[in-house]
Amino acid sequence: DEWDVKICCIGAGYVGGPTMAVIAKKCPKVRVCVVDISQKQIDAWNSDKLPIYEPGLPEIVSDCVNKNLFFSTDVDGEIDKADIIFISVNTPTKTKGIGAGRAANIKNCELCARQIAKVANSSKIVVEKSTVPVRTAQAITRVLKSNDKGLDFQVLSNPEFLAEGTAISDLMAPDRVLIGGHQSPEGLAAAEKLVSVYANWVPRERILTTNLWSSELSKLVANAFLAQRVSSINSISALCEATGADVSEISRAVGMDDRIGKRFLQSSVGFGGSCFQKDILNLVYLCETFGLEECAAYWNQVVIMNDYQKKRFSQKMVAQMFNTVTGKKIALLGYAFKKDTGDVRETPSMFVLRDLLEEGARMHVYDPQVSREDMWIEMNYTCGVNHDNTPGLDESVITETDVYAACDGAHALAVLTEWDEFKTLDYERIFKSMAKPAFVFDGRNILDYAKLRDIGFEVHAIGKPDPNKFSDL
Ligand code: NAD
Ligand code: UDX
Repeated sequence: DEWDVKICCIGAGYVGGPTMAVIAKKCPKVRVCVVDISQKQIDAWNSDKLPIYEPGLPEIVSDCVNKNLFFSTDVDGEIDKADIIFISVNTPTKTKGIGAGRAANIKNCELCARQIAKVANSSKIVVEKSTVPVRTAQAITRVLKSNDKGLDFQVLSNPEFLAEGTAISDLMAPDRVLIGGHQSPEGLAAAEKLVSVYANWVPRERILTTNLWSSELSKLVANAFLAQRVSSINSISALCEATGADVSEISRAVGMDDRIGKRFLQSSVGFGGSCFQKDILNLVYLCETFGLEECAAYWNQVVIMNDYQKKRFSQKMVAQMFNTVTGKKIALLGYAFKKDTGDVRETPSMFVLRDLLEEGARMHVYDPQVSREDMWIEMNYTCGVNHDNTPGLDESVITETDVYAACDGAHALAVLTEWDEFKTLDYERIFKSMAKPAFVFDGRNILDYAKLRDIGFEVHAIGKPDPNKFSDL
């Protein structure tokens, strides 16, 4: 047929969708089909309203869809057609059984391998795109090799490093593409085939090839190092609040050292998202499995520090507001785990919301991209809070489509996602409409505090000196 290579990607989520859209865009002679068991998800990809919000994505999808990019629920048919099959399914932290709360569940990956072994009629290259525990490729290989059709399957590891909100630019110009494979002639040939797909737009020197286990483990390590930087600066933010030092000045002073670097030193209410915590816990569990208790404890501290940071934020809000928020209206500005996404998985806003609800506050939430439905799904999944076990939830949490309505009559507003629009709100208008004293808690350090204090707000930010506490700033 007319195609150089045919790719099937199992899993049409935050990774599968954008990654395959960019491959299709950059490789017109490659046929790409993304499949999923969720009909709703596939229907959304084939509609005008994509299932995820990601800047730049709609343009690419509409350019390529039904040319060389397809979305389908015909998992079996598309597996059989493909030369290269990506497994890009979710690998969440186990909630039950052995390793509950830490180990990643690779059930979905194994199911994909079983499906491939069952329905394939020709040899395939199978690529782990999901983030998995090191040595998962061994399990995948064994499942595939148990087929009795005499087919050959080569398993590669090709972890994804995109960040949500910047997925398209990350995919268009990746720092590196990592491909791990068996160091056999067949394994090296398979890796070379995948290299040649990426080489359509990624410079060769940025495409790294390694053995399978290094590739699998590098992904966990990369996320652990990034999250560790955020927890490190957040630990310092607490010390700043106690001493009058300013965490932003520290980030700048420390980050200008080339050996340290500037990025991922932005102090915040804590990191969220579906990856950091899950991948660190995965690493912690691996260390424990191999009897490396000190290594496990070292990395686990990154998560403990993040939990502390989230808790510290809500506790500070209550403490500053005269130790009670019962019955008070509080506006949460931003619910997504970072700007430019609608994703709420593990979002720090959820933990702040939960804590303040427990204190009896009346919560009004504004986020430009988050749906109320997604909020409740994640709140139930991660915090176990739902409408059945928490009567009155619908009355105590109001989602607003207008940010000024969210703040009207509120005792406090808390910025929890760094959406750009929050920097340019009419804070004079907001101040006039709020109860007094009007508190601002900035969990992202994006607002202009001098201006807000001039207007009359009482402002508290992460790792920023409080002028009411330090007269010698
Ligand atoms: P997601 O939940 O958004 O998407 C996963 C999709 O897989 C879902 O639509 C689900 O219906 C589908 N699926 C699950 N089992 C299936 C099966 N057996 N057959 C067909 N479809 C199936 O998840 P995601 O955020 O895209 O993450 C996917 C993987 O990529 C995870 O391992 C994650 O750790 C990793 N990762 C995620 C990011 C990120 O930013 N979200 C970045 C890098 C790596
Ligand atoms: C992360 C990794 O960056 C990416 O390489 C990997 O593929 C998936 O996991 P993501 O979770 O989408 O990406 O977003 P990221 O930009 O890393 O932010 C994660 C969390 O850390 C967010 O809640 C963000 O607000 C927070 N963060 C990030 C900080 O609080 N401070 C920082 O300096 C950077």
